[in-house]
Amino acid sequence: MAETKKIAVIAGDGIGPEVVAEAEKVLRKIEDVFGYSFETEHALFGGIAIDEKGTPLPDETLDVCKRADAVLLGAVGGPKWDNNPKELRPETGLLGIRKALGLFSNLRPAVVFDCLKDASTLKPEVLEGTDLMVVRELTGGIYFGEKFRRETEQGQEAVDTCAYNVTEVERIARQAFEIALKRRKKLASVDKANVLETSRLWRETVIRVSADYPEVELEHVLVDNCAMQLLRRPSSFDVIVTENMFGDILSDEAAMLTGSIGMLASASLGEGSYGLYEPVHGSAPDIAGQGLANPIATILSSALMLRLTFGYEDAADAIERAVAEVLDAGHRTSDIAAGRAEALSTGQMGDLILNAIRK
Ligand code: IPM
Ligand code: MN
Repeated sequence: MAETKKIAVIAGDGIGPEVVAEAEKVLRKIEDVFGYSFETEHALFGGIAIDEKGTPLPDETLDVCKRADAVLLGAVGGPKWDNNPKELRPETGLLGIRKALGLFSNLRPAVVFDCLKDASTLKPEVLEGTDLMVVRELTGGIYFGEKFRRETEQGQEAVDTCAYNVTEVERIARQAFEIALKRRKKLASVDKANVLETSRLWRETVIRVSADYPEVELEHVLVDNCAMQLLRRPSSFDVIVTENMFGDILSDEAAMLTGSIGMLASASLGEGSYGLYEPVHGSAPDIAGQGLANPIATILSSALMLRLTFGYEDAADAIERAVAEVLDAGHRTSDIAAGRAEALSTGQMGDLILNAIRK
C-alpha cells in the first residue's frame, strides 16, 4: 500500500461542490485501481465561508490546507457577495490563499480535443494540433501592489500599483523553462516591454535565465500581439509565460480555443511539490445545483495533482485517457453538446469517466 496522501478539499460556491464531488469519486476509483491512498479533509472557503465564518478564508481552512500535501478547489463567488466590501469578497479569499501558500506559478494547459473541435467558435483547421500551456505569475504584479484612492482637483482618483522584483520574475521564468524542456521546447515570454518598466525588467530577466536553457527556443511577444496570435496561430504556441494580469486575460482567451472553459484544469505551484488544483472556470451560479455543470475540468485538475504533486504519472494518464475515451464515444455535458445529442448530467459524466479508468 502506498503512503497515504492528504488532500484538502475546498469546494466553495455555486457548482464548486458538484464538480468537486465527481473528482473525489474519481480519486476513490484511482485508489481501487492503482492501490494509492488518499485522505481528504473538507474546509469552508469563499462565499460559504463568509456566510458561516464571516471571512472568505478562515484560519482553520488555511490550517487544513497547510497540513495537506495538496489542495483541491472547486470555485468561489456568486451574486450574493458581489456587492460586499473587499475583505468580504470570495475573490479576496482566492488571492489570499494563493499568497499564503506561496503559489506563485499558475499552470493552465489548453488542449484541443479532436472530437471537440466543433465546440469552439474558431475554424477547426486553425485549431488543429493546439496544445499549449499558459504559465501565469500568480502572487505579484498589479493584483498585489499597493491600492488606494485619493481626492484630486479632477475628482476622486484610484491607484493600483504594478510592481515586480527580479526574484519574482526569475523563479517563474525558471519554472516556465523547465516545463518547456519537458514539452516541445518552445517558450513565448509575453510582456508589454514597449511601455511598462515592469515588463522591461521581466524581459531582461527572462533573457538572462534563458542562458541556462539553450535547448529552449525563446520568443518575446507583446501582450496585445499575443492576444491576436492566439487566435491566428494557436497551434504554434507551446509554453507561454507571463505576469499575473496578462496571464489572467490570455488564459481565458486560450480556454475558448478548446470550445469550453468547462474542460480546462489548472495547477498553482510554489517551489516544492505542494500544489493547489482547480478548474479554470468559475462558480457558474446560473446553473448551480442543477446537475448541469461539466465536471471534466475538475477531474482533469485532480489528474494534474496526481502527476505534479504526487508523481503518480500512471494514474494521471489513466484519468486523461478515460476523459478522452468518454468524449470520443460522443458523451457530452450541455456546455460542449453544441446543440446535438442528449446532454449528460454532472454525475452521469463523472460515472462514465470513472468507469473508463483502467490500469
Ligand atoms: C482566475 C480568476 C481570479 C483571478 C479572480 C476570481 C480573482 O479570474 O483565477 O483567473 O483574476 O485571478
Ligand atoms: Mn481569470
